[in-house]
Amino acid sequence: MVSPFDPEVRADPAAAYRALREAGRLHDYVPGIHLVPHYADCDVIFGDPDWGHGYFSGINPFRPGIDPKTLPGSFLLMDPPDHTRLRSLVTKAFTPRAIAGLRTRITEIADDLLDHAIGWGEADFVTDIAYRLPLTTICELLGVPAADHAVFGQWASAISRGLDPDAMLTDEEKSARAAAVAAFHGYFTELIAERARTPGPDLLSGLVAVAEGEDRLSTKEIGDIGALLLIAGHETTMNLIANGVLALAREPRQREVLADNPDLVPIAVEEFLRFDTPVPFPTRVAMRDLEFAGRSLPRGTGVILLAASANRDPEVFTDPDRLDVLRFDPARGTRKHLAFSHGPHFCLGAPLARLEATVLFDRLLRRAPDYELLDTAPRYRSSVSMRGPESLPVRFR
Ligand code: HEM
Repeated sequence: MVSPFDPEVRADPAAAYRALREAGRLHDYVPGIHLVPHYADCDVIFGDPDWGHGYFSGINPFRPGIDPKTLPGSFLLMDPPDHTRLRSLVTKAFTPRAIAGLRTRITEIADDLLDHAIGWGEADFVTDIAYRLPLTTICELLGVPAADHAVFGQWASAISRGLDPDAMLTDEEKSARAAAVAAFHGYFTELIAERARTPGPDLLSGLVAVAEGEDRLSTKEIGDIGALLLIAGHETTMNLIANGVLALAREPRQREVLADNPDLVPIAVEEFLRFDTPVPFPTRVAMRDLEFAGRSLPRGTGVILLAASANRDPEVFTDPDRLDVLRFDPARGTRKHLAFSHGPHFCLGAPLARLEATVLFDRLLRRAPDYELLDTAPRYRSSVSMRGPESLPVRFR
């Protein structure tokens, strides 16, 4: 059977997902690790505390023998109660209400990027717009100088590639990941010292204040949270925007519907997340011996949840391989997609990602609805865990 991780199927993985779904609920991938392609199964596992990460219990099969403190991810890698403690320190900053306050600034950033790109006539939608909007936004929120992106951009790429299971990585890629984690640590240690001396209204200063209060966060813990938010907060949204721009360019009728009714953009963003899921393969680990899909799975068994396949499951979504920007119209009662997972690790930044994408598509479709792709078959990034095109040259008419 074709692997959904095969570079050959990267451009159009729908047939590989279909074949896996039709062949069964649980597929052996490598010893101790299985693939789960159906919506119903991914949905159950995301919400079940018997499935966790197991890094700090020493049972994670995706990175065997690695000290989890040397990995990127902060609380993304943890299980309760540590996960709950650290996540709760930043949840307030990411509630839909807190995030709604950023709309004006995000609109300014989006318009500024579009002004330049439209003025040039041609641009790379990935590097000139889709990368910059979420990067600038998360840097401002955190209190990280956006100008430093030249420094940390490379570490962030090494880390996003390093999020793939170790079995998919070369030794050089694993070393690059460890070097990037160390580099981020050094970077944040300096920044945290500066915020302790001169606090600002930013999230990092807020965490430094918490560290000095009763919660006793260490500098390493703050730095790890900062790096997690910085990385999770830009590459993912960049891919959502790029995947949406590509999908709309391939479906001119759907693009027209949106250009005529920009109020529908928030609904369309949900469809972009479903149709071309930016984080296609989250993982989980059995925290105890479990029965699943008719198999006995010992504690420490890993599963790769094929969220991208679950989001194309015909049991849940009618005509799933078709882009339908009105699919998530509340009147149609479509079930939610799994692009942000759910349960304890539900994407903390979902309200921010939704707002950034909504603002960007709203401004794009009002200002330059007939943008044209100059490369209709773009190359994809090598990371399996984060899906999106490397570049997307476009012409604005
Ligand atoms: C977790 C997707 C944007 C911060 C997750 C998870 C997914 C995801 C699937 C859960 C992984 C799992 O269950 O194992 C996405 C997508 C995004 C996006 C598709 C954009 C389109 C953001 C943004 C932030 C963010 C803008 C902002 C800071 C986080 C954090 C976690 C997370 C901190 C860890 C949550 C936890 O473990 O408790 N994201 N994300 N994400 N996301 Fe996002």
